[in-house]
Amino acid sequence: MSKKQIRLNAFNMNCVGHINHGLWTHPRDRSTDYTSIEYWTEQARLLERGKFDGLFLADIVGVYDVYQDSADLTAREAIQLPVNDPLLLVSAMAAVTRHLGFGVTVNLTYEAPYLFARRMSTLDHLTRGRIGWNIVTGYLDSAARAMGLSEQPEHDARYERAEEFMQVLYKLWEGSWEDGALLRDRQRRIFADPAKVHRIKHRGEHYEVDGYHLSEPSPQRTPVLYQAGASDRGQQFAAAHAECVFISSQKPEAARKLVHDLRDQAQLAGRQRNDLKIFMGVSVIVAPTAAEAREKYVEYCRYANPEAGLAHFAAGTGFDFSRYGIDEAIRPAASNAIQSSAKAVSAADAGWTVRKLLDQLALGGRYVTIVGSPQQVADQLEAWVRDTDIDGFNLTRTVAPESFEDFVNLVIPELQARGSYKLDYEDGTLREKLFEARQPLLPARHPAARYRRG
Ligand SMILES: Cc1cc2nc3c(=O)[nH]c(=O)nc-3n(C[C@H](O)[C@H](O)[C@H](O)COP(=O)(O)O)c2cc1C
Repeated sequence: MSKKQIRLNAFNMNCVGHINHGLWTHPRDRSTDYTSIEYWTEQARLLERGKFDGLFLADIVGVYDVYQDSADLTAREAIQLPVNDPLLLVSAMAAVTRHLGFGVTVNLTYEAPYLFARRMSTLDHLTRGRIGWNIVTGYLDSAARAMGLSEQPEHDARYERAEEFMQVLYKLWEGSWEDGALLRDRQRRIFADPAKVHRIKHRGEHYEVDGYHLSEPSPQRTPVLYQAGASDRGQQFAAAHAECVFISSQKPEAARKLVHDLRDQAQLAGRQRNDLKIFMGVSVIVAPTAAEAREKYVEYCRYANPEAGLAHFAAGTGFDFSRYGIDEAIRPAASNAIQSSAKAVSAADAGWTVRKLLDQLALGGRYVTIVGSPQQVADQLEAWVRDTDIDGFNLTRTVAPESFEDFVNLVIPELQARGSYKLDYEDGTLREKLFEARQPLLPARHPAARYRRG
C-alpha cells in the first residue's frame, strides 16, 4: 500500500504577530509588510511551489485585553493587533496561483448569513473552487462590546447559534439554485430558468431569511468547511459539519485520543471516519544540519517574547495570568472563552504555573516546535501522523516568510523523496484535492445535502 500522504496548510493571519509573538522584531522578519499586496502574492507563489494544500488564514474580532486587564502589551507587541480582513487577500493570491487552497476564518457571531453566503460564493467563483471557511464563533468579550453587546453569548449557546447559521447557509448555497438552473440561452433570452431558482425561507430562533441566494452556484457550492472545536460541544459541532478540523496538542497520546473521538463522533453522525481531515498546529525550525537548526532556534528565541504569548493565551482562556505569582498553580475557574484551553491549563493534575507557561512559550507561541535537519523534521512529522492518525499539519510561521521558505526548500523535498508528500497537484477544486471521493460538492451524507432540491 502506498504511504499516507501528509497534508499541509500554511497558517498565517493578516497581521504582524500571529502565533509566535515577538519575532516581528527579528531583522529578517517581513511580517510588518502585511499591508502590501505583494507580500501576500509572493507568499502564495512560494506555497504553491511547495505544493501546499492550502493557506489557512486566521482572524480575530476584538482585541486581547485580558492580560493585565489591558490592551497595552497587545498594542506594543502587535499581538494580532492591528489586524486586517482576511477575505480581501484571497482574490489577489488566487490570481497568481492555480492550485493553492484558501481557508479563511470568519466569525459568524457578527455576520449576517445572507450577505456572508454571497461573499463566500463570490470567492469560490473567483478562485475556481479553492475556497474554504474556518467556522468560528469567537471567544472575546472585547469583540462583543465592539459590536454593541455587553458580553458575548455563553459558550454552548454560541455553538447553538452556529448550528442555525449553518442551516441558513446550506439552504442558500445548496437549495436556492438547482443544478441546471443556468441556461445562458441567448436565442431564447433565458439566462436562468426561474422554475429552478428558489426563494429560501428560514425562520428560526436567531435568524430570519426570506430570499434568493444572490450568487449563481459556485464550483463547490458550500466552501470546504474548517473548524477547530475542541470542547465537548465544539467536537460535536465539528463532527457534524467540518471537513477539516484543526487541533492543537502537545502530546501524541492526547492528540490520538482527540482524533479518535472526533472520527467516532463523525461516524455516529452518519458520516465516515475519513470525512474529517485533521490538521495539527506545529512550528518548524529547519536548517541543513541539526546544529545549524539549533543555532537558528536559539537566535529566533532572542527576539521572541514569551510574555506576549502569555497575553495571547490569557485571552484564549479568559484567565488573567498576571494575577498569579510566577510559581503559583493555575486554578480552575469558569471560562466563557476557549473552554478546551481553559480546562487544560487549570486541571489540578496538569501542574501549570506561569513559569512553566513562559518556558513553553520560548518561541512566543504554544504550538509543538520541531527543530532539526530536514531528515529529523521529516521523521517527526511522519511519526505524528503515524502515531495519532492526523492527516497533516497547520504550519505556523516564525520569521516570515523565511520559515516558510526554509520548509519549502528543505523539508518538502525530503518528504517527497520518502513518498509521504505529493510530487504534484491534481486538478480540481479544493474539495476534490483533499478527499478521496474527488467530488466538488459535499457528499450526500453531509447535513448540507439535505437542503438540495431537484
Ligand atoms: C489551529 C486553530 C486555529 C484557530 N483559529 C482561530 C481563529 O482564527 N479565530 C478564532 O476566533 N478562533 C480560532 N480558533 C479557536 C477555535 O475557533 C475554537 O474557539 C477553539 O478551538 C476551541 O473551542 P472550544 O474548546 O470552546 O470548543 C482556532 C483554534 C485552533 C486549534
